[in-house]
Amino acid sequence: MSESEKSPTGAEPRAASLGADVSRRDFLSEVGFAALGIAGLGAAVVTYRYLSPNVLFEPSTTFRAGNPDRYPVNSVTYLADQQVYIVRTKDGFHAVSAVCTHLGCITQWKPEADQIACPCHGSKFRADGTKIEGPAPLSLPHFSITLTADGELRVDKLETAKPTQALRV
Ligand code: FES
Repeated sequence: MSESEKSPTGAEPRAASLGADVSRRDFLSEVGFAALGIAGLGAAVVTYRYLSPNVLFEPSTTFRAGNPDRYPVNSVTYLADQQVYIVRTKDGFHAVSAVCTHLGCITQWKPEADQIACPCHGSKFRADGTKIEGPAPLSLPHFSITLTADGELRVDKLETAKPTQALRV
């Protein structure tokens, strides 16, 4: 470097300034790449979540209620995991919903009164689900009940049945 390029202080300001610019540029460039990387990663996550199916795993609406011999004649058996009563009369089997038709509370079988009662607002039903009293607008619905090939009761909660329809075994 010649004497004419030096600053009045004798330092080399141009070279020092150039070095500071390059490192600042490198720094900003790295920050920019990092920001792009983070944005790209975010976009990839959002795209993956958008493309993956939204599957809601709900319990099956069809279930096996076991061997018919499990239910004595003239009995009401509450299956808590399915919220269904298996009602066996001398005419056969019925699957009656335990969900109250008023506001959806779970009813309870009261053997001493021979009734199904709703604890929420006092609706009462006969063992076959027929409404006796209370604010419930309808009787308890019956579900389709059939026999499987291997002799077990099978209830389909998506298919309603007439209360007069009993499964004879
Ligand atoms: S929810 Fe059963 S009577 Fe109201």
